[in-house]
Parts: sequence; structure tokens; C-alpha cells
Amino acid sequence: MTAIVQDKYGRPDEVLRQEMVAVPVPHGEEVVVRVHAASIHVGDLVTIEGEPVIARLALGLRKPKNRVPGTDFAGTVVAVGDGVSSIRPGDEVFGWSVNAFAEYVCASLERLVPKPAKLSFVQASAVGVSASAALQLLRDRVRPGQKVLINGASGGLGSFAVQIAKAFGAEVTAVCSTGNIDAMHSLGASHVIDYTKQDFTLGSARYDFILDNVANHSLSRTRRALTAHGTLQSNNGTSGGRWFGTMGTVITTAVVSRFTRRQAGPSIKFTKREDLLTLKELIDAGQLLPLIDRTYALSQAARAVRHVGGGHARGTVVLTV
Ligand SMILES: NC(=O)c1ccc[n+]([C@@H]2O[C@H](COP(=O)([O-])OP(=O)(O)OC[C@H]3O[C@@H](n4cnc5c(N)ncnc54)[C@H](OP(=O)(O)O)[C@@H]3O)[C@@H](O)[C@H]2O)c1
Repeated sequence: MTAIVQDKYGRPDEVLRQEMVAVPVPHGEEVVVRVHAASIHVGDLVTIEGEPVIARLALGLRKPKNRVPGTDFAGTVVAVGDGVSSIRPGDEVFGWSVNAFAEYVCASLERLVPKPAKLSFVQASAVGVSASAALQLLRDRVRPGQKVLINGASGGLGSFAVQIAKAFGAEVTAVCSTGNIDAMHSLGASHVIDYTKQDFTLGSARYDFILDNVANHSLSRTRRALTAHGTLQSNNGTSGGRWFGTMGTVITTAVVSRFTRRQAGPSIKFTKREDLLTLKELIDAGQLLPLIDRTYALSQAARAVRHVGGGHARGTVVLTV
């Protein structure tokens, strides 16, 4: 089968290439899926570039343990392991795994759910890790009637967060650049702040919950935009240095969160099947619709990853396979 492979870490154009590799075989509770679409999120950039370098402790010290990058996908089941009875060949599914930038991917049953009928494969491929992360950051924290601000609202995670906060009954303010204002209203934001014209930390509005995907202001300055009992959820995994990335911020927020309820600690955990099922319910109920920036052919993976790396995607970038 055709797959995108990398034998070393580096810039997408330098390390990604298309190659023929063996089709995976499912064992036990695994399922092999013919991938129709695989989306790209910022975590994929980390596995391709191997930065921050500390991530290589998990990804492979000298070179990637998994030659085929990619995580989130949607497609049709073609084979199942002997421990699988709930999914059959021919079923349309979405979810996540390693090695998704390929014609076929092998995934654990735990990381797959049926594709919502109303979504195309391209749309469904966007959901996986990005929407699960948005769900985990907001669930049990955002309550009906609260004023919620999402900084970095138009990206792969932010565009899901706007809709999930709205589905939880919040009045959502989205922060984005001028060109994304209409898109944010269409996702359900009640208010949109154009960061090129206005700094939300300097305004008079106060929020019960802020999800900060950008970290372009200090924690204390961002907390100033909170109500007296409001909570800041920091969520930035891309800024910071080459070696340790945002580790400093993660440690700071973890420590500060022990002393004040106004700072939530790190909260994204392993993505579970229950989260994918919750997202499917929101999609089926018409409360969640992936925002697709653009699609690229699998052979254009390096270009597509570079576009995501630019940090200004409107929603999710998807590879069609
Ligand atoms: N996606 C995931 O699966 C995932 C999972 C866990 C954690 N995270 C973390 O969540 C954060 C966001 O991820 P993402 O996938 O949404 O990233 P993304 O797709 O690259 O989107 C980044 C967004 O940030 C916006 N932005 C840039 N500068 C801004 C500013 N000064 N003020 C407000 N918005 C600004 C951009 O909007 P404009 O184009 O309008 O400038 C863009 O839409 C990252 O730090 C990432 O590490 C992501």
C-alpha cells in the first residue's frame, strides 16, 4: 500500500516521502481500516519534526519509532481481529491511531466509533484527537449560562471548542483574526473579538471560563479577564523552546492550580472511546460540525503539514487518500 514515511526527524519537505509498505494485519481487538481521509493536527508536527526534543523520549530518541506519521482518520473497515465482534468489514468508522497517513491503518477497537451518517469522510477524519481534547478541556468545567472565551478559536482544536462550549449552554466569545469572524459566528459564537484590533485582556468584559489555546499574554494578565470565581484553562502545546517546549508553562499551571481555583491544571488525557461516542452524539444532534480548512492529496502531505505548521489554519487540514 502507499504510505507517507519518515526515517528521521526534520522539516516536512525534507523528511516526508511516499513509499510502498506492507498492509497491516489485525490481531485480537484490532481493526484494519481503508483510510479515505486523514486529518493533520499540531501533534502530528511534533512527531514529524521531533520537536520539542523532549517528546523524542516517547517518539524514538534517534529516529521515529513509527515510520508512518498521522493520527486522526476516517474510512471503511476491511478486516478485524479475532477479538472483534461489534464492528464488521464494510462499516464506516472514524477515530485515531498511529500510522494514519496511509491507505490502510490498524487501530484498536477502543479508538474507533461508527462514522455519523451526516458527515463525509473528510469531515469525520477531523474529529479524533482534536475534538476529544476540546471536549476534555471543557467538560465538567463549563456550565449553562456561563460566559466563556476561547482564545485561538478558529484553529483545529478551537473550532471544536467553540461548538462544544455552546452545546454545554455557554455564551461563547471567540477570539480570532479578521478573516475568521464570519466562520466563528457560523459555529455559534455570540461574540467575536478580532485580535488584530482588540486585546481581550484589556477590555471590560469578564468571563467565567477562558480556554487559552495561544498563550500570547502572561497567565496573570489573561486571568484579569476572569470574573471573581472564573477559571483559566491554559492549553498551548506549541510555543516555548526547541528542547522543552511548553513544559515550563505546564509545570507552572499545574503548581498554580493547586493554590487557586482560578487556574485549571493540565487536563488532556488519553483519548477514550467514550469521548468519541460523546462527540458522535453531539454531531448526530446537529451541535458539532467539523470546520474544514482545505484538503490535499496524500502525495502532498509535506505541503499540508507545512500549512498546519503556519499556525493559521481555519479549522482542520485533511489529506484525502
Ligand atoms: N489539535 C489538537 O489535537 C490539540 C490537542 C491538544 C492540545 N493542542 C494545543 O492546542 C493549541 C491549539 O491547537 P490547534 O489545533 O487549534 O492549532 P491550530 O490549528 O494551529 O490553530 C491555531 C489558531 O490560533 C489562532 N491564533 C494565532 N495567533 C493568535 C492570536 N494572537 N490571538 C488569537 N488567536 C490566534 C489562529 O487563528 P488566526 O488564523 O485567526 O490567526 C489559528 O486558528 C495548540 O497549542 C496545541 O498544541 C491541540
